[in-house]
Amino acid sequence: MILIANSEGFPGIELTAAQLANGTNGLDAIVDGISMVEKSVDVRSVGFGGWPNLIGEMEFDAGVMDGDSLESGAVGALTDVISAAQIAKLVKEKSNHQILVGAGARRFAAEMGYADEETLYDESRKTWWSVVESALSEIDTKRFPDINLAEMPPLLIDPEKVRDTTVYLCRDTNQSMYAATSTSGWAWKYPGRLGDSPICGAGFYADSRYGAVACTHTGEMTIRQGTAKTVITALRLGHSLDDAVDIAINDLADLKSGYLGGVVIHAIDKGDQHKVVNFRCEGDIRYWYWSSDLSKPELRDAEIAE
Ligand code: GLY
Repeated sequence: MILIANSEGFPGIELTAAQLANGTNGLDAIVDGISMVEKSVDVRSVGFGGWPNLIGEMEFDAGVMDGDSLESGAVGALTDVISAAQIAKLVKEKSNHQILVGAGARRFAAEMGYADEETLYDESRKTWWSVVESALSEIDTKRFPDINLAEMPPLLIDPEKVRDTTVYLCRDTNQSMYAATSTSGWAWKYPGRLGDSPICGAGFYADSRYGAVACTHTGEMTIRQGTAKTVITALRLGHSLDDAVDIAINDLADLKSGYLGGVVIHAIDKGDQHKVVNFRCEGDIRYWYWSSDLSKPELRDAEIAE
């Protein structure tokens, strides 16, 4: 058994490790762990502790994948419900669709029994408004948000660039592999922006025959290169885990224009090997590692891509 989560996964990592050790299904265990991350105000890029979009609304993205069945489900720009990973899992289980977004995702969540709740943390609201207000003229402040938001690109800066999204990957007691992600996305993003966290093949992928992968940071890059699926395809073609991740990193390095930033690739293979690589993210990138021979999860340093 093996469990990997990015450093933002700390509120739920011990619960997930304990559940895996007890033989809980891996997807149930990682979604339970992510649900704790989503409720925590100490993680400033996921769930209730995350940042709102440009007009002060929380919009959540999440995705899950079952590596045995290759079924996945996702939500994008989900409002009013914090437990986005649970809703993504329900999309997989209870609908014929792959991704539900916006009003449809919220409606589906309500039909699954999730009542509307407060999703904007007061501290986030204050920070958001001070950033937005400082960029608006007096006239625009009065009209906001009925202004041309697309003319505000300097605001599209993530104050938490070094820490975003939460991702969990595991191989459970049945040798089944799973991936799950959740995020509030970039701070002050344009309303409706989706990152890679709900995009199967970009932000996450799991295939129990080969491995499981999830990415954090710049979804604008991994969406273009299908990063998570690239790693799995390379494993399927017989590459080692090291080489498979290198191939995906080289694809990211091929991007020379459009929005460019950093990406962290988290990957495990069917031999319980793992690899977490930082491609051009600022700051120290760490991740959680647990396997059945450890009494509790350990925080480790990611490799830095050459
Ligand atoms: N990787 C998360 C995002 O781009 O929103």
